Amino acid sequence: MAVPGLLVCQGLVALLLAISFLCGRWSIFQGTSIERIHYLLSFGAHNYFMRFVQFLLGAKCTNAILSVEYFCCDRPNPILQIIYLAIISMTYYFIAKSSFTYIPGYYLSGIHRYTSLLAVAVGMLLFLLTSFSDPGTVKADNVSQYLSAYPYDSIIYTEKECSTCKIPKPARSKHCSICDRCVARFDHHCGWMNNCIGERNTRYFMAFLLWHFLLCLYGTVAIGLVLAGRLKELTVVYILTVYYGIENSPLSLAPHIVQWLLGAYHTQVLLMVFLAIVALPLVGLFGYHAKLCLTNTTTNETFKWQEYISRQRKLNEAKASAAALRSNMSGISSEVKPSVSKWRALFRRSRPKDLDSSVVKNNVYDKGYFHNFYEVIFPMSTRRSFSPTKLKSG
Ligand SMILES: *[C@@H]1O[C@H](CO)[C@@H](O)[C@H](O)[C@H]1NC(C)=O
Ligand SMILES: *[C@@H]1O[C@H](CO)[C@@H](O)[C@H](O)[C@H]1NC(C)=O
Ligand SMILES: [Zn+2]
Ligand SMILES: [Zn+2]
Repeated sequence: MAVPGLLVCQGLVALLLAISFLCGRWSIFQGTSIERIHYLLSFGAHNYFMRFVQFLLGAKCTNAILSVEYFCCDRPNPILQIIYLAIISMTYYFIAKSSFTYIPGYYLSGIHRYTSLLAVAVGMLLFLLTSFSDPGTVKADNVSQYLSAYPYDSIIYTEKECSTCKIPKPARSKHCSICDRCVARFDHHCGWMNNCIGERNTRYFMAFLLWHFLLCLYGTVAIGLVLAGRLKELTVVYILTVYYGIENSPLSLAPHIVQWLLGAYHTQVLLMVFLAIVALPLVGLFGYHAKLCLTNTTTNETFKWQEYISRQRKLNEAKASAAALRSNMSGISSEVKPSVSKWRALFRRSRPKDLDSSVVKNNVYDKGYFHNFYEVIFPMSTRRSFSPTKLKSG
């Protein structure tokens, strides 16, 4: 019992480290220990490593490592894409190898041999679709349409020019420094997809997240049913109660059944744990992005709104303290004041909340859940109204 427990623990720790390292900067992990582990792993360890290399091998070697890093992390490259494809195909391979001999089984019909393959193939297709689709590249020949698609809200977007592309910057667009292009309704650059997530492919990205969450769920339940079927077919409960004299109650049977499963089917149990754990960040990320889609916000805009709110808050505090100073200066009635300023302090404390909720009203792109959802499914640039210049030239 101790050895499989240790194995599971080791697997969990490895998975935690992997998730922290690869996904620690995702906004859903903001302020959690996963983000902290990420910084420790990526920056702390990196710093020490670089100092160590510099000390041992000199500056030339450090520079070589830095340029390798530049090509890995700051340029488009398919490393994470390959890792994704390796993970999904290896997982499917291990599931097929370990569990297909028991399909059809007591609870699962033979059709799951084919539906599982189909489900994985659809997942890979969604991945390729998101990776290789146009996220909404803004170029000189279609910048005018993108300019008219979204108005400037004069809060987080004002008229600007992209200093790299030398074209006007439409509202909600951003220059992706990795891909070196301007992308409309920029959400984020996804390293896994080696592509930006923007106006035209947010829908595929959402479908990818949802499908992979369901895929993990399907795998977990299916393997669970395979194991339950084995339990039934081998009459394990019967053997345990009759031959070993264990009381026939779930509570006293459970430890023995778990022990039996870990002994006879440890691969399947590990696969189940793996799938169940991977499902969690997927559903979290999907929920986060679904909320953004329904309120017509992008990941990058949440940062911009945060900046805006903290700027407003500082401004208000400065105003309030200036007003307090002024009233103190005019000071004759300063002994009567305290009760008033106490009220004012109370009012000021409730102020940030007001600001946060007014932000939702300030988002001019939010036009109600239905409209926002429709805009993700049918982006502005795919609508007929989008291409007047093309119609003229054609
Ligand atoms: C805008 O132009 C670029 C470059 O010509 C192209 O890649 C992109 O697909 C165009 N976008 C739309 C919506 O037509
Ligand atoms: C998102 O927006 C913030 C604030 O404007 C900016 O500083 C940051 O670099 C952007 N992040 C990404 C990943 O584009
Ligand atoms: Zn640009
Ligand atoms: Zn990009």
